Amino acid sequence: MSEPRRRARTPSFVPFEADAERVPGSLHVLLLTTGSVASIKAPLIVAELQRYERVRVQVVATKSSLAFFSKHELLDRGVRVWTDDDEWRGWRHKGDPILHIELRRWADLVLIAPCSANTLAKIANGLCDNLVTSLLRALAPTTPTVVFPAMNTHMYEHPLTAVHLRTITSVIGYEVIGPIGKELACGDSGVGAMTEWRDIVQMVADRWKLVRKPQSIRSSRSC
Ligand SMILES: Cc1cc2nc3c(=O)[nH]c(=O)nc-3n(C[C@H](O)[C@H](O)[C@H](O)COP(=O)(O)O)c2cc1C
Repeated sequence: MSEPRRRARTPSFVPFEADAERVPGSLHVLLLTTGSVASIKAPLIVAELQRYERVRVQVVATKSSLAFFSKHELLDRGVRVWTDDDEWRGWRHKGDPILHIELRRWADLVLIAPCSANTLAKIANGLCDNLVTSLLRALAPTTPTVVFPAMNTHMYEHPLTAVHLRTITSVIGYEVIGPIGKELACGDSGVGAMTEWRDIVQMVADRWKLVRKPQSIRSSRSC
């Protein structure tokens, strides 16, 4: 019988194992980005989180969200950006680390910012057909998970959105913050925009009592 075809590992791919990557005493933040135009803010959220001591950040991006920011911009900041392809790239044999499981083991806090209408619907219905939704489905309910919806006002006001938001809060126990009202990127005006990126990071800093890195205090005073 012929051997099953082996998937070639990309040379630059570094397998990820939560135990080896967790740094004791640090807050491990997983930022999940989805296909809302508000994903443009992902690099700002990451950079701002990195201004605090003892914070480690990694990003998991849906395919659509990568239309809105450059993966390389984050890689240059030392932040890993995981995508659906990575899920299969590192796995060859039984016993190899499974990325969505390792990522959920790694995370102390999950931020879904922005959360598109599509991903919201998928989470509320238990779908797990990509890396973002698989890791959410595998996540321990005790891991704090904060959802920041971002969508066109009409999408937000669609009756299904309220049902989905109710499900993810009352059944799964996620926290939902926003959306806020402002002129949206599509030109419509109304509720649907993602909470301001600075407010997202400030919420994390306040709740987890994060301390600013000394050099970042100096640079923010001089601005
Ligand atoms: C330019 C552009 C902007 C979009 N902005 C949003 C948005 O703000 N919110 C949203 O829910 N969907 C938005 N969409 C649609 C989503 O990208 C689409 O529903 C996609 O399937 C979401 O996939 P994901 O949830 O896997 O990321 C936008 C699409 C385009 C082309």
